[in-house]
Amino acid sequence: MAVLVKNIQKLVQADPTPGSYRAGAEMNHLPCIDNAFLLAVDGKIAAFGPMSEFKEQLLSGIKETVEVVDATGRMVFPAFCDSHSHIIYAGSREIEYIDKIKGLSYEEIAKRGGGILNSVDRLRAATEDELFDSAWQRLEEVASFGTGAIEIKSGYGLDAANEIKMLRVIRRLKEKSPLTIKANLLAAHAVPREYLGRQTEYVDLIINEIIPMVAAEELADFVDVFCDRGFFTPEDTERILMQGIKYGLQPKIHANELDYSGGIQVGVKYNARSVDHIEYTGDEEIACLLGSETMPTILPGAAFFLGMVYAPARKMIEAGLPIAMAGDFNPGSCPSGNMQFVLSMGCIKYGLLPEEAINAVTLNSAYAMDVEEFLGTITVGKIANFFITKPIPTIEFMPYAYGSNKVETLYLRGRRQ
Ligand code: NIG
Ligand code: FE
Repeated sequence: MAVLVKNIQKLVQADPTPGSYRAGAEMNHLPCIDNAFLLAVDGKIAAFGPMSEFKEQLLSGIKETVEVVDATGRMVFPAFCDSHSHIIYAGSREIEYIDKIKGLSYEEIAKRGGGILNSVDRLRAATEDELFDSAWQRLEEVASFGTGAIEIKSGYGLDAANEIKMLRVIRRLKEKSPLTIKANLLAAHAVPREYLGRQTEYVDLIINEIIPMVAAEELADFVDVFCDRGFFTPEDTERILMQGIKYGLQPKIHANELDYSGGIQVGVKYNARSVDHIEYTGDEEIACLLGSETMPTILPGAAFFLGMVYAPARKMIEAGLPIAMAGDFNPGSCPSGNMQFVLSMGCIKYGLLPEEAINAVTLNSAYAMDVEEFLGTITVGKIANFFITKPIPTIEFMPYAYGSNKVETLYLRGRRQ
């Protein structure tokens, strides 16, 4: 099935030659076409432009049936790329959320046996099918808010069998879902109970057993470490990243959420695709990121839910850096994967302009999950992942109307969902 969307009030992020990401002042550049059309054939973007340039002969030679959609009053955006999620989990953690309201910190909850280890107990008890079914529902939910690609992490198994169980679920999701999915091995999410006080031995297990096993089954695209105060040190991180790279996994890590942990520096040193959270980013970290190929990625939903300080995104953009924004859907620090809310938070809490925020959740977040060649902009030859909005007056309305779902119809690989 081919699809022709006509009379689009504004076609957003339409760029014949977008490049890999937008940084610094360029982040404010958001190419749009008023009164436009978009044609997708065979799951790919085949043509786009102003309606005045649309010619019926563009359709000649198309062997598939062409669905024609009139988008009068509506806009078309590339579907969001969510480059950071933990959607494979068993059971919510709203009790800890109440502890948080009562004043306990994320680290205190973790020390009491809550937090990540609570999710580990439940995940170990769950079957692959149960995990698949609940993750599938979460995929449907994020898609309903406009997400078309998502990176999914392991990290609630924390032993070889259960990390592999999680990654096999991700593989099944990759096979069955129309979303583009990337898998990230996050065995270094926390030290499991059975290794408490023996952190180095757990790192040895990751290096000597888990990474080789995961690589043998080709279950992961990336390797991740929660490099932060109270979790893994830069030295642990370095060892894990080196081994991951040796086995063909690109680093993409959690860094500087709780302190100036050295995580950003170690990520850049190993050419991480992205460093994520990064609330604690100072001049030294900014200097380190400049000139690197690592995408600084902020997770507004987690900072909001945990009541954290917000990363100095504005300062980073002024310094010439790119910024990506991702959802971080997980049961502990961000029980939502709504990228429209992330977009709004980017503007409200981080001072991004709507154009910058839209770049951060499309092209830049596509780069952060290594899919920018295929996704993140409206470009001929890219995968036809886009959504048609409800009638909206301006692009600024997208972040402004922060509580409403502005997505009317999502198309993934050129198919209406
Ligand atoms: O990205 N910060 C570390 N990991 C997750 C939270 C995981 C959890 O609390 O279950 C995050 O926010
Ligand atoms: Fe995370």
